Amino acid sequence: MRRAKISVIGAGNVGATCAHWAAAKELGDVVLLDIPDKVGVAQGKAIDLACCGPIERFDAQITGTSDYKDIAGSDVVIVTAGLPRKPGMSRDDLIQTNVKIVKSVSEQIREYAPESVVIVVSNPLDAMVYTAWKATGFPTNRILGQAGALDVARFRTFLAWEIGCSIEDVTALLLGGHGDDMVPLVRYTSVHGIPVSQLLPMEKITACVERAKVGGGEVVKLMGTSAYYAPASGSVQMAEAIIKDKKRIIPCAAYCEKEYGIGGYFVGVPCVLGSGGMEKVIEVDLQGEEKTLMDESISHVKDLVRVVTEMFPELAS
Ligand code: NAI
Ligand code: 2OP
Repeated sequence: MRRAKISVIGAGNVGATCAHWAAAKELGDVVLLDIPDKVGVAQGKAIDLACCGPIERFDAQITGTSDYKDIAGSDVVIVTAGLPRKPGMSRDDLIQTNVKIVKSVSEQIREYAPESVVIVVSNPLDAMVYTAWKATGFPTNRILGQAGALDVARFRTFLAWEIGCSIEDVTALLLGGHGDDMVPLVRYTSVHGIPVSQLLPMEKITACVERAKVGGGEVVKLMGTSAYYAPASGSVQMAEAIIKDKKRIIPCAAYCEKEYGIGGYFVGVPCVLGSGGMEKVIEVDLQGEEKTLMDESISHVKDLVRVVTEMFPELAS
């Protein structure tokens, strides 16, 4: 049987950790690609990771490279290339530099891995997914952004800590862009089917919602750079659902036309992920404030895309 192939562009913190999770889960062969100046880092991390195989018991070929020919035949390409945030920066402050990087990376993916499903991680996420879509020209089912898988995992973790239960039993839903105005949905959050509102007072739930919204910033302040274990874990969760055709429902930045009234943008919504990439957007009923918050978040995503198309008019059409 042919092994799946996952390529990760950017061998920094998130990229190398994606390679780690993908190898540890034995999802397939892994290519870790960085710019020529950093090829030694990509190669060194690939060898180091490959040497975990005998201990962790995975069989995977792991290649470090700066040559895009090595990504040929990839089933999934995860794009982590770009600058991360420093303390005091918002994700949006990265747009100028990262749109250039993601555009050039996407053009290489179009050439060397034209059948792949692309999972974009670089920030500001919602604008970078749009950039990758335009620069690859791929159909919308093969372009996704990773944000919701991470953001909902943070929300579930903070709730489980507060309740004192296993994180495995907390399920939750989260919509919107990957900004501090993301929309965790308390009404769709439960612990083994029990509405969370029956287990925690509203002020504690609200505190978890607010902490999830700024969860990325909390880590940046502590470490001086952005998070990478959970972002990579979320990205590989998506890759696994696609490679194994699991039909998992995971919140992702996905292209929506009439869904949620979005009108042709990539925004965080629950999606079915399988071998076709993004196979379906699931629309849930939103009420009152939930709808207002979702509309605000969508409007922020549209502002970001406007900045991209003003900088690169060729990405507008
Ligand atoms: P990092 O600085 O550790 O790694 C980035 C890597 O990208 C570097 O090794 C750099 O050489 C490489 N790179 C730059 N230009 C490239 C190009 N043209 N082609 C190939 N590689 C290139 O940064 P880190 O922490 O891994 O973050 C990467 C990106 O992911 C950032 O934009 C960060 O904001 C974003 N991020 C997104 C998250 C999400 O949930 N969507 C969560 C965490 C980070
Ligand atoms: C995060 O949420 C910085 O987007 C990154 O950790």
